[in-house]
Amino acid sequence: MFRSKLMIWCSAIVLLGSVLTSVAAGTAHAGIATGSKFLGNIIASSVPSNFATYWNQVTPENGTKWGTVEGTRNSMNWTQADTAYNYARSNGFPFKFHTLVWGSQEPGWISGLSSADQKAEVTQWIQAAGQRYGNAAFVDVVNEPLHAKPSYRNAIGGDGSTGWDWVIWSFQQARQAFPNSKLLINEYGIISDPNAAANYVQIINLLKSRGLIDGIGIQCHQFNMDTVSVSTMRSVLSTLAATGLPIYVSELDMTGDDSTQLARYQEKFPVLWENSAVKGVTLWGYIEGQTWKSGTHLITSSGAERPALKWLKQYLGGSGGG
Ligand code: XIL
Repeated sequence: MFRSKLMIWCSAIVLLGSVLTSVAAGTAHAGIATGSKFLGNIIASSVPSNFATYWNQVTPENGTKWGTVEGTRNSMNWTQADTAYNYARSNGFPFKFHTLVWGSQEPGWISGLSSADQKAEVTQWIQAAGQRYGNAAFVDVVNEPLHAKPSYRNAIGGDGSTGWDWVIWSFQQARQAFPNSKLLINEYGIISDPNAAANYVQIINLLKSRGLIDGIGIQCHQFNMDTVSVSTMRSVLSTLAATGLPIYVSELDMTGDDSTQLARYQEKFPVLWENSAVKGVTLWGYIEGQTWKSGTHLITSSGAERPALKWLKQYLGGSGGG
């Protein structure tokens, strides 16, 4: 009798403790996704005041790109990166470092250096990022390996015997610099193209067999998403899921006038969200006038929710929005 009462009290205390912890971490009722999968968005130079009403994961839009941080050699500007990181941390949202090695938005000065200096600089950059953002939940280690190879790739292994030695080297460095983060690869043009997905899987398997990769990023921008068929999406997702790795939709957006965008979200978002291998979705912007591609916004510049967002809230069953 005494024993069972004690058990009830202990469970009550544990339950109360976990509720208080999640409130303190800001994880209770943030964003419109309420289950185990996150629905995140990007942060540019400042945090929109309604961010946490809708989203519960953070990727900096440009703030953690090498060219942004180290535009001038050996002079690091972490301002934008810190804004996004501190916001994510104080709200208990997973943060993704985007990105370490990429052929776009690399610093202008890197391509002119000697091979030895290039390698030393990339190594320093990866280590500096890891020292500062070692608590990042995720890191996009290599971005767009199929489309935008870095100018300095020969300095870090080149193609080599695997065909992707520079990618493997990058993940080895990232594993050391970010031992507590999930390491991801990220690419566009995958969701709409089974051949590209097969090529992507070849790189992924090289990394997987070496224990270097924890998840697969697929960007899913409007230039692929607007017209892709649901059957192509399903076939690509099953090709990626067959690796056994989790999939993260990393940069989703879709255009259209109100009704077209709504129809696209209704038809395609559930295909991504309900796939059991997909563990989280990040949208690439949401406020009119502040999105990378125009027409992809979900909130107008005057603050009105577009039909696709209203539907998304209803579909996900969250309490966010007003
Ligand atoms: C974009 C940003 O949204 C723009 O502000 C910037 O001018 C160019 O880059 N793939 C990526 C993202 O991985 O980092 C890109 O972001 C969009 C395509």
